[in-house]
Amino acid sequence: MGSGYQSSGHIRTVAILGTGLIGCSWGALFGAAGFKINLFDSKEGGGRRFEEFWASVADTLVELGIAADASVPDWQEFDSAAQAVASAEFVQESIPERLEAKQALYSGIEPHLPKSAIVATSSSGLRLSDLQEGWRDPGRIIIAHPFNPPHIIPLVELYGNERTDPDVLGVAREFYTRCRKQTITLKREVIGHVANRLQAALWREAIHLVADNVVSVRDVDTAITAGPGMRWAVMGPHMLLNLGGGAGGLQAYCEQFRDSYSLWWDDLGKPQLDNDTIAKLKAGIGEEIGSRDYNALRAERDAKLVALARAINTIDS
Ligand SMILES: NC(=O)c1ccc[n+]([C@@H]2O[C@H](COP(=O)([O-])OP(=O)(O)OC[C@H]3O[C@@H](n4cnc5c(N)ncnc54)[C@H](O)[C@@H]3O)[C@@H](O)[C@H]2O)c1
Repeated sequence: MGSGYQSSGHIRTVAILGTGLIGCSWGALFGAAGFKINLFDSKEGGGRRFEEFWASVADTLVELGIAADASVPDWQEFDSAAQAVASAEFVQESIPERLEAKQALYSGIEPHLPKSAIVATSSSGLRLSDLQEGWRDPGRIIIAHPFNPPHIIPLVELYGNERTDPDVLGVAREFYTRCRKQTITLKREVIGHVANRLQAALWREAIHLVADNVVSVRDVDTAITAGPGMRWAVMGPHMLLNLGGGAGGLQAYCEQFRDSYSLWWDDLGKPQLDNDTIAKLKAGIGEEIGSRDYNALRAERDAKLVALARAINTIDS
């Protein structure tokens, strides 16, 4: 690409390709942060879905200090992806997680991208090297993986490889920071990136403990929310265990618990999501949900996340 852009200052318009769960949330965040939003979804009604989504999160974005007020941001819906990207300096692609579909979309938009536009994919686990196939200029596409819901959770996992334009990651990092995100940058390609691998490791054992009749779904969830989950929002596992070692820090912790972890790691389960296991998880989550419906649960999650964000200073108090 060789744009020469060293900063994100030229970005005014962001194209959102795919207005599903993740695309709508990104669109709301970028709109709240003052960018013009160009929308395209291959299914009818993408603009209406975005407006409905905005109405449901506008107050949260104001509370987070990202939107100045709840008025609908500047957005426009287009009839094709090519039209949506033609006036956008940044593209956030959030169509379903299928390599062929993403590659087909990219080949349709590449000829219409402005000279220095960056294309970021929300892909949860596809490889950048595969996503770069078919590009005339693979230097402009990067992984920028959010954690659901992107309009609240700060994390964005960035990855670019040796084919990536040297300026692109820096510009993207600055752009996301302007949108109040916190980025990490992967040093090499790995399936599932970082946060999903961590989530997969934890969920695997949580499923095993339920499937093996050690605890109920409700209790394994409480074991996280009332225990380590609360600490993890404040400090990462290494920093916490550094404290767990007392004055001797992480070194002392490792020496004290080396044998215990070795035993525990050897004993961790390897469940599969077979039908019996899914049925058991479903029955357990049903008990935990009680009478709350999807919207009530989402509202409860978001209110607590906003309070948490304020407490740990990821937003202005
Ligand atoms: N769901 C999550 O928790 C989550 C979290 C982080 C990242 N992601 C990633 O975000 C991406 C989107 O996931 P989602 O959960 O929002 O999916 P989704 O199914 O909710 O939304 C996808 C949208 O893309 C549209 N679409 C399909 N093909 C299209 C095309 N060719 N052009 C334009 N629009 C098209 C669909 O109509 C739909 O509205 C995936 O890559 C996924 O891995 C998902």
